[in-house]
Amino acid sequence: MSRIWIRGNVPLCGELTIQGSKNAALPLMAAAVLHPGKTVLWNCPRILDVECMSSILRELGCTVFREGGALVIDASRAEDLPVPARYATRFRASVLLTGSLLGRFGRACLPYPGGCTIGTRPIDLHLQIFRKMGALPQTGREGICLQIPQGRPAGCTAALEFPSVGATENAVLGAVLAQGVTVLKNCAREPEITELCRFLNEKGARIEGAGGSVLTITGVDSLRDSEYELMSDRIVAGTYLLAAAGTRGQVTLHGAQEETLRPLADILRGDGASVRAVGKRIILDASGAHPGERFVRTEPYPGFPTDLQSQILVYLLTASGASRVEETMFESRFQIAAELAKMGADIEIENNCAVVRGPAALKGTAVAARELRGGAALAAAGLIAGGETAISGSRFIKRGYEDICRDLAALGADIREI
Ligand code: UD1
Repeated sequence: MSRIWIRGNVPLCGELTIQGSKNAALPLMAAAVLHPGKTVLWNCPRILDVECMSSILRELGCTVFREGGALVIDASRAEDLPVPARYATRFRASVLLTGSLLGRFGRACLPYPGGCTIGTRPIDLHLQIFRKMGALPQTGREGICLQIPQGRPAGCTAALEFPSVGATENAVLGAVLAQGVTVLKNCAREPEITELCRFLNEKGARIEGAGGSVLTITGVDSLRDSEYELMSDRIVAGTYLLAAAGTRGQVTLHGAQEETLRPLADILRGDGASVRAVGKRIILDASGAHPGERFVRTEPYPGFPTDLQSQILVYLLTASGASRVEETMFESRFQIAAELAKMGADIEIENNCAVVRGPAALKGTAVAARELRGGAALAAAGLIAGGETAISGSRFIKRGYEDICRDLAALGADIREI
């Protein structure tokens, strides 16, 4: 079991190119199943969740391989087999295959999806829409089977009770090859959903309203082969911006787009850091930053992302005063507080709120990553802390970060896998 070793208390300085987006790659890979042909994805990150999705697609009969910098998926021979539990229960995005399998075959059988240990993460909103499209779900102890007696989803009008990212993506996937028009209201507006819509439109789908809360999808009979270059990962970029700001560093992140990280950029600017968007890069100079106390609340896009909540918790440990962080989406995301306490952090958790008292004199020690974003935040804490930090559970971080040691070392950190 490998661990990450860090000697901290050094400002991050340097340049880095941000990897392709995990949360865009996974729905696009699921979408490839809709088309009995070829899909080529450029800039697809080399992370465990992508490997896991590749394994599932292979078990469904697809050919999946890397060619140069691209991931190639040929779904000509895909079949409507049950999604294998040994992979699907490892990560949440496996649920996105429901929309694709229903769209292509009118039938989908899935185990209950897994993912981070950060909350209950139900899929009721997904099922509500599939029912409206004519699917009859049968839930069992192991998972769910959905069947559309007519063989093809029917267009429908549906409003999501909450703008769930996964339910929006699944509904789009189910609607692309449906009979008739689907109107989806109160959709999530995350940039990765816009990416999915763009990708599908380039494949021949007819989706209007990408980036907005209402999507109108006119069903088409077939899609075509395509190549697509994935956006860079805004959460990875945000993680490194916060790590750099926490160490009062100066970094340039190539591929990072400020418009996808606005609430974070606003916070950093408010704290006296310089954040500049120049072309397709963000240039941060936090050497003169003096963070003060804050209230941060996680919200659906364009609000502050829940996937950066653990990382901002760590950053706020370097601020003067008592900050409050409210988590509105995943109730167990504060698990990291207990690990940070081992490093000397003063964080009090009350229901879905954390009170962070800073500035903390963090000291390196042995800590455990138990989920993806919390694990990355522990690495940032190790960079801020004095002395040595050893993080176990690095496999959780590899679900979403290609090589966090490589990236942070490129920014001057003393970090390696041991
Ligand atoms: C996606 C992201 C994840 C991010 C999250 C919120 C991917 C692969 N994952 O996850 O990194 O943290 O968006 O930005 O893109 N909910 C229900 N019923 C449902 C579906 C969701 O109650 O049927 C609730 C969830 O429990 C949670 C909230 O809605 O409290 C947000 O979930 P959702 O937006 O669906 O997140 P995911 O798509 O799972």
